[in-house]
Amino acid sequence: MNLSMERTLTILKPDCVRKQLIGAVTDKIERAGFRIVAMKKTRLTKQTAGAFYAVHSERPFYGELVDFMSSGPCVPMILEKENAVADFRTLIGATDPAQADAGTIRQLFADSKGENIVHGSDSAENAAIEGAFFFAAEEVVRVD
Ligand code: RTP
Ligand code: MG
Repeated sequence: MNLSMERTLTILKPDCVRKQLIGAVTDKIERAGFRIVAMKKTRLTKQTAGAFYAVHSERPFYGELVDFMSSGPCVPMILEKENAVADFRTLIGATDPAQADAGTIRQLFADSKGENIVHGSDSAENAAIEGAFFFAAEEVVRVD
């Protein structure tokens, strides 16, 4: 892998799947230059959703977040691009879609701060941890 390449972990959240926006959101991601190196459709349980967002366990919205993230199927992906972590956060926009810049995925598609279509890792270190949470090594396949 090119030294400047970076990976990030995204989840197309249950609202994205319910609204049949998997294709529309994935199109935005690919058009922005991200390569999909791993992808699956799965469903988190309350336990696995709680573990994924454990960093927020003391926050008032944690119970709601766990209920939402386990409410239906989701689509985690590992994405690769130069500066992937920061560039993906720019592409998705602010946590609250009402605050998100025009043209960002959350501004275009999300209904609320809680149900905001996509997750994006907040650091390269967390991207590696989150990628391993969803994918075995043999499921991560680069396109050359
Ligand atoms: P994410 O981790 O999902 O990419 O979102 P984020 O970094 O933009 O936001 P973060 O602060 O990490 O919050 C994680 C997720 O928790 C839900 N949330 N709800 N109701 C609320 O005030 C609230 N605050 C956060 C959102 O689903 C958010 O994406
Ligand atoms: Mg976050």
